[in-house]
Amino acid sequence: MKIVKVSDYQEMSEWAGKQVIEKVKSVRQPILGLATGSTPEGLYRYLIEANKNHDVSFENVTTFNLDEYIGLDRDDPNSYHYFMKEKLFDQIDIDPNRTHLPNGVAADIEQECLDYEALIKKTGVIDLQILGLGVNGHIAFNEPGTSFTSRTQRTDLVEETIEANARFFENKADVPTQAITMGIETIMESKEIILLASGENKAEAVKRLVEGEVTEDFPASILQKHPHVTIVIDEAAASLLK
Ligand code: GLP
Repeated sequence: MKIVKVSDYQEMSEWAGKQVIEKVKSVRQPILGLATGSTPEGLYRYLIEANKNHDVSFENVTTFNLDEYIGLDRDDPNSYHYFMKEKLFDQIDIDPNRTHLPNGVAADIEQECLDYEALIKKTGVIDLQILGLGVNGHIAFNEPGTSFTSRTQRTDLVEETIEANARFFENKADVPTQAITMGIETIMESKEIILLASGENKAEAVKRLVEGEVTEDFPASILQKHPHVTIVIDEAAASLLK
């Protein structure tokens, strides 16, 4: 596990942006794993800028997002489909047909999970997976207690996660209680992973991720076992590390 300490959110976003661009340029048909949440927004702004400046093209890139809320359709402003379109896809030269997120309004959610897994497998192996970090140690929507051998599945969001994500919704009661999430084993199959964390409220989780024991009670701890993972943290997020 490589740790990269940077001064602030901006530097974290730029560092990650450069890695993504390098990956996109060095692989013929790159497959990126993408995340939502506040953390990667700066990274996406960096990629948009680089694309506008013709420093990089996303024409050959395929993407798979980590998760989607169950019950929100793609046009709902709180859906992750909408987030990705608005914050990235609509502003770069990527082919929309190559961008993938689980369908949170599928008639058969279990089948949708199987189909999503199958589509990843058919497309190839994710070259670079971007991850954020939940305050409770979740990665994607894999909450504490999720099996390390999980594949894409339906998950119940815990109270802490609903609380943390309520800021995006008008009312806390509007936050969906379930999601489709890529599984932990699915994420671990990526060739390379970059996890981003910024701010004091992630410091405790970063400490457990880097220095704690590897346990299903803290899903992100599994990353200690990944052969090619980089944790990019700003000073505030790194403040509790030894
Ligand atoms: C959300 C997402 C995760 C994200 C995490 C942290 O619930 N499902 O993929 O990494 O929580 O979010 P943020 O970056 O807003 O702190």
